[in-house]
Amino acid sequence: MSQNEKLDAWLSEIEALCQPDAVRWCNGSQEEYDEMIALMVAGGTARKLDESQRSNSYLVWSDPADVARVEDRTYICSEREADAGPTNNWCDPGEMRETLKGLFSGCMKGRTLYVIPFSMGPIGSPIAHIGVQLSDSPYVVANMRIMTRMGQEVLDTLGDGEFVPCLHSVGAPLADGESDVPWPCNADSKYIVHFPETREIWSFGSGYGGNALLGKKCFALRIASVMARDEGWLAEHMLILKLTSPEGVTRYVAAAFPSACGKTNLAMLEPTLEGWKVETIGDDIAWMKFGDDGQLYAINPEAGFFGVAPGTSMRSNRNAMLSLRSNSLFTNCALTPDGDVWWEEMTDELPAELTDWHGDAWTPDSGSNAAHPNARFTAPASQCPVIADEWENPKGVPISAILFGGRRATVVPLVNEARDWQHGTFLGSIISSEKTAAAAGVVGELRRDPMAMLPFCGYNMADYWSHWLEIGERAGAQLPRIYYVNWFRKSAGGDFLWPGFGENGRVLKWVFERCEGTAKAIETPIGNLPAEGELDLTGLDEVSAEDLSELMEVDVAGWLAELPLIREYYEQFGSALPELLLTQLDGMKARLESAEG
Ligand code: GTP
Ligand code: SPV
Ligand code: MN
Repeated sequence: MSQNEKLDAWLSEIEALCQPDAVRWCNGSQEEYDEMIALMVAGGTARKLDESQRSNSYLVWSDPADVARVEDRTYICSEREADAGPTNNWCDPGEMRETLKGLFSGCMKGRTLYVIPFSMGPIGSPIAHIGVQLSDSPYVVANMRIMTRMGQEVLDTLGDGEFVPCLHSVGAPLADGESDVPWPCNADSKYIVHFPETREIWSFGSGYGGNALLGKKCFALRIASVMARDEGWLAEHMLILKLTSPEGVTRYVAAAFPSACGKTNLAMLEPTLEGWKVETIGDDIAWMKFGDDGQLYAINPEAGFFGVAPGTSMRSNRNAMLSLRSNSLFTNCALTPDGDVWWEEMTDELPAELTDWHGDAWTPDSGSNAAHPNARFTAPASQCPVIADEWENPKGVPISAILFGGRRATVVPLVNEARDWQHGTFLGSIISSEKTAAAAGVVGELRRDPMAMLPFCGYNMADYWSHWLEIGERAGAQLPRIYYVNWFRKSAGGDFLWPGFGENGRVLKWVFERCEGTAKAIETPIGNLPAEGELDLTGLDEVSAEDLSELMEVDVAGWLAELPLIREYYEQFGSALPELLLTQLDGMKARLESAEG
């Protein structure tokens, strides 16, 4: 029982539907966390890492049928199909409720239902919101304790106020006497369902990441994007970083890149440029609301990192590596003989032997990945050596610049500044990126991922663009500058042209100096590029002059070839598409054609 009638009534209803053996209210304590871990160890779900390697940390292997977000099983069930838009899966809410009732009926038999009250954002912040997740997974409870502010304090703050109900089941009831498997899930039937009007989430059949930790993509992006539309703010798939110049001047930057395209890395980067400093506010999601001064103030609604393990090393992301020295969970990583975790590119030399994420013996000759490409770490944000002092400031931090980006081997230059907010909204809307292992499906395929929100926008993408344009029209708004960046340009031989990681600080410096009004740009048909000599390349000898000019070039023919694809992409939105985006597209076409001569 709580002080919240709606919560108590909902819980009774779900209990009757799902028929768990027991109900347990989570208080968020260390003892409770330890108990969840003990349950997972006893059940073969988790194994403790060697204490001297990594303190109080555990490795979990999932079912191979449950390793990433399932976008084709993710639904936006608005009353009207048009409100979900052509890029979301839609189903009639009444019909979906019937399907879900069938699926959830008795689905928690043999299991405990955990009641998980959580706050997205610092408890009590005017930008924060509360959710309650009901779940039958101890793995979810443990992860939610790291990823959100969770437990009794949230319930006390909630009182009889509003919360977002988030129902989750792994969809694997146990018959009397049936013993559990290490990673229960439903291999045949997964549903990640959102009801935007009633602000509800129902998730069935998966225990993995964004499918199951419902505060993250389901609430903080899909449901929150709808709340943001209705209330005049922004819920975005963006990291937030604090950038300090050698002179000690500070600015905050937010950046939206699709899944596994470099947010965690940029959020905690160590700039190679002397005297520049980056500190972390958040690595995946930003909620931004207008302050009285007309600036957009951002909070990180999360409290932990659920980061991509493969590719993370002391060389590529030292601060992430140091964040997960202790008190961390690892999912689908490999296990070393001395009881530590390993993943691809963690070390320069391959270990001689490992146990891979399937639990099988592995050697460098095995010819397979030892860790799953979407293997993840869960670590408390407070453990990040460069977490900014103000990361939990309930007021948020004022954003000076927004970066959009993606993985593009060709056409898109290293950095391009939007002419104004409308042009920036246009550039965000045309982002495309090669697909990664963060979602089930074909890796490497190029797809449009506007504002990195394609899988995460809880309503019609065209209406979302209108919302962005309306944000720009707000009286007295002091808007961030907008940039389109690309760290992933490749040579004909298939190598990255740009070294990336700490070298991305060079681009941040130019962005900073544009905000200060001290760096020069040249106007081009696609936007403002750094003027000759304005991008600081001091000491960057490893990149040849030819590669640099390719990185900074305006590929007129490439862009002209892309325009019809953008127009075709826009067409699916019909009359919902804001006219202004077509005007922007026509403007770019005219400028490119006159540049072509
Ligand atoms: P999600 O957690 O899925 O939202 O991913 P993310 O956007 O936080 O991506 P992350 O920073 O974890 O990076 C994903 C992969 O891209 C990792 O393997 C990184 O090593 C790699 N990566 C990140 N930044 C760069 C870069 O600047 N250049 C190159 N070449 N690779 C990068
Ligand atoms: C993403 O895929 O963008 C993630 C990981 O951040 S998940 O939480 O699984 O969505
Ligand atoms: Mn993400």
